[in-house]
Amino acid sequence: MTTMRKLALFLLPPFSLAGCNVDVMQPRGEGAASIAELIWIFTVLSAAIWLLVVGVLLVALARRRVHVRFEPLPEQPAGERVATRTVGACVVLTGIIVAALTFLSYMTGKSLADLGDHAGLTVEIKAQQWWWEVTYDDPAPSKILTTADEIHIPVGRPVRFRLTSTDVIHSFWVPRLAGKQDLIPNQTNEITIRAAKPGVYRAPCAEYCGLQHAHMATYVVAQPVDEFESWRDAQLKPAAQPGDPEAQRGELVFATRGCAMCHAIRGTSAGGHVAPDLTHIASRRTIAAGTLPMSRGSLAAWIRNPQGIKPGSNMPEVDLSPDELNAVVAYLVTLK
Ligand code: CUA
Repeated sequence: MTTMRKLALFLLPPFSLAGCNVDVMQPRGEGAASIAELIWIFTVLSAAIWLLVVGVLLVALARRRVHVRFEPLPEQPAGERVATRTVGACVVLTGIIVAALTFLSYMTGKSLADLGDHAGLTVEIKAQQWWWEVTYDDPAPSKILTTADEIHIPVGRPVRFRLTSTDVIHSFWVPRLAGKQDLIPNQTNEITIRAAKPGVYRAPCAEYCGLQHAHMATYVVAQPVDEFESWRDAQLKPAAQPGDPEAQRGELVFATRGCAMCHAIRGTSAGGHVAPDLTHIASRRTIAAGTLPMSRGSLAAWIRNPQGIKPGSNMPEVDLSPDELNAVVAYLVTLK
């Protein structure tokens, strides 16, 4: 195992997710690949120049005169000319290298910007302290989909992300797929991403945004086009009516004990829009923006004590009896 890979594994989140690509150093998207290429050109060229300069310096030190002379140095016109030409050539070479690197940077930036011209799908992301609201645009209003904290995209197709924030500056960064782009209040920034390979790619918020910045991650799930389309069709459906009596009781508790004031569950009376949409929460890999893996235990722990898990978040502690808590969790896990 290479040192870089060991470092990447060390930096990973404390829990592992099934199917998650752990090798963050390997680009899997067009944007990330061209940025990685540019970085390698800069690194190799700069290292070569540094080695050359240090080499020349060491030669000069080895050849220095150690004894002190009091008489003036004799004039050496031939040596002066060689020195002038050498310094002149180095200055010209430096100019050429800086111009070439600037040109390469420009070309990389241009190719990333051009990718946006071919985008067929637009996804709006609204960052909030500390979660992500994700809306899939569509010309047909009935196909506009709003979900949270997990982003699905089709492999091989450029997807345009329109980014904004409701509170402070956040940053959207899927290291294996593309560069960073900030989400700024009252402004819309864009970034286009094309995933080259299917996979689950972690995207941590990349701009310090307050107490729970480290608990603000999203997962980008790149999947074959037909899989993506069936995921989208399933997500567009309203929540299924629970068949189990305990889950039915949970739906009632959810609707009457305050949860519905903030969260929406399409197909029910819950229509709040200040917190993540929970219509298909059980289909996601994590809860609380990548903080806990999706499971009955995590849901129960989160509802019971959100301020213990994510202090400062807007999720309040709802006073539920153990039976009510069990019922709500039994209901939420049916929301596939
Ligand atoms: Cu959002 Cu850091």
